[in-house]
Amino acid sequence: MKVKVAINGYGTIGKRVATAVNQQDDMEIVGVSKTRPTYEARDAVRQGYPLYVPEGAVQAFADAGIQVAGTVDDMIAAADIIVDCTPGNLSEEYKAKYAAAGKKAIWQGGEDHSLTGISFNAAANYKESWGAQFSRVVSCNTTGLLRTLFGIDREFGVRNAYVTIIRRSADPNDSKTGPINAIEPSVKLPTHHGPDVQSIMPWLSISTMAVKVPTTLMHVHTVVAELKEAPTTEQVKEVLRRSPRVRLVSSRDGIKSTAQAMDLARELGRTRGDMFEIVVWEDGIKMVGNTLYYYQAVNQESDVIPENIDCIRSMCKLEEDPAASIAKTDRAMGI
Ligand SMILES: NC(=O)c1ccc[n+]([C@@H]2O[C@H](COP(=O)([O-])OP(=O)(O)OC[C@H]3O[C@@H](n4cnc5c(N)ncnc54)[C@H](OP(=O)(O)O)[C@@H]3O)[C@@H](O)[C@H]2O)c1
Repeated sequence: MKVKVAINGYGTIGKRVATAVNQQDDMEIVGVSKTRPTYEARDAVRQGYPLYVPEGAVQAFADAGIQVAGTVDDMIAAADIIVDCTPGNLSEEYKAKYAAAGKKAIWQGGEDHSLTGISFNAAANYKESWGAQFSRVVSCNTTGLLRTLFGIDREFGVRNAYVTIIRRSADPNDSKTGPINAIEPSVKLPTHHGPDVQSIMPWLSISTMAVKVPTTLMHVHTVVAELKEAPTTEQVKEVLRRSPRVRLVSSRDGIKSTAQAMDLARELGRTRGDMFEIVVWEDGIKMVGNTLYYYQAVNQESDVIPENIDCIRSMCKLEEDPAASIAKTDRAMGI
């Protein structure tokens, strides 16, 4: 029997989670939700997903000629697990609904760790969400940092990591967020990214700063890490090569920037041109003594998608072995 998955919030993350669930053989979509009758709502119907809307929006969808399957409450009732991809400020309201209906739910990185008390990354702590009612897939940046630092820490020990996050200002479908001609530092220091990584690797000493720049494609991280050991640059590359959902690229191979990294995803024929892996520049990895330097890029719209699939599998007890779940997800998604 397939696990019945509902996606509450069919936006940037929600529509990608829906596609990924649809690609798995042990889970199925029972519904997706929207509040506004936009092109994305029409697309959900075209994809064959039952579309649910809040009670107060039923008439607006009828007026727009978009057929709905019922209300969001009906969708919750039909699901075994809800992947909540709504924007901020709705989590408490929906948590109460999911709890009252006795359903499992996963939130995204826009919510705080305190909402669920468990945060998720497939390679780092798959088993912590085993059978849990509520969990949270950490944000795109946190996922990116965990994907690379977890393996490096396990092999060589990280004494201190210092990270600067160069953040995309908006997603590609967003025409109202800026800056469009400025660089904006996050002045609340250190930024929340370090503590968010620690929600999964509490032992890791990590300090983060961030600036927002006018781009929509990806975030870039510059990482400086003092290691407990002094491996060679090649040994570090080998660990990253073996780390799940990390892709080493080379500027010598023509991938000099996020523009070519995202072009590679399109050339690979990925759905929506998504780059699910964290892109690390192989020729930008360097060990000097016990200090490691590297650059990585994060496709903010998509790196968390396979993590949501593995989180469903852990919470619904579908696969005990994290590596087996990761491999199954990746095979189905063409990663
Ligand atoms: N975008 C990213 O780069 C990114 C990366 C990682 C994690 N996240 C996190 O993922 C979560 C979702 O972000 P997003 O970028 O996907 O947001 P988004 O594109 O704005 O999508 C949010 C969706 O929620 C729906 N929604 C709004 N109010 C709702 C309600 N009361 N009930 C049900 N659905 C409702 C919206 O539908 P309508 O448009 O019809 O109102 C929309 O489809 C956030 O926690 C965010 O921090 C985002």
